[in-house]
Amino acid sequence: MASKRGKSPGQSPGRSPQSTTGDVAIDATQDVSAAGSELANAESSIRTDQIDPGRRRMLVTGAGVVGGLGAVALAAPMVASMSPSERAKAAGAPVEADISKLEPGQRLTVEWRGKPVWIVNRTPDALGGLEQVQSQLSDPDSENSIQPAYAQNETRSIKPEILVMVGICTHLGCSPTYRPEVAAADLGADWLGGFFCPCHGSKFDFSGRVYAGVPAPTNMDIPPHKYLSDTLILVGEDQQEGVAA
Ligand code: FES
Repeated sequence: MASKRGKSPGQSPGRSPQSTTGDVAIDATQDVSAAGSELANAESSIRTDQIDPGRRRMLVTGAGVVGGLGAVALAAPMVASMSPSERAKAAGAPVEADISKLEPGQRLTVEWRGKPVWIVNRTPDALGGLEQVQSQLSDPDSENSIQPAYAQNETRSIKPEILVMVGICTHLGCSPTYRPEVAAADLGADWLGGFFCPCHGSKFDFSGRVYAGVPAPTNMDIPPHKYLSDTLILVGEDQQEGVAA
């Protein structure tokens, strides 16, 4: 289910002496900045001095070439440093999740197509609450939400107790928090457990169904998945239709 980076503290703005990748990336950025600055000057001249169109074309092309080289320089070391299995995962290969140690009430997370995918082992109480919150939901039957046909049911799952869901809020893409506790102080006495997105206050029940009156427009997504055994789930491949498009 989703993955995103920054600069280490103390690192000089110029380059990192330990990192070849950093050297490549930083040099490319400087070249791009220089070309961009020259381009900005040229653009200014065009507005005020009617610069020769041939020179403008040359500057634009030059900036594009340098920018392209920079992008290649940044991407190549990253791809080269990935193992074959990491490259396959990044490209969207199905991911196995072993749930043999997942106790009732627990959640585990795997990454599929750069997104967090949650697997939750729901307790009988959690499942019992699904019916009770029905009238408070925006799309209780998941008619306007994304899930495979085999998960368009109240539990939004293949096996009732096991929820497999993309852990991303359908409002603006934050990752909600897992809030299994009943009557949580900040969520109200009628809270029966589920998921809460603190970014803008969207609430979802234990099936990822969104409550009415919150910013998120639809239920959270259920990805294609199937069981390879009782305790092994393959995320990214449908149980009926083969690998997800
Ligand atoms: S991103 Fe979740 S409520 Fe806005």
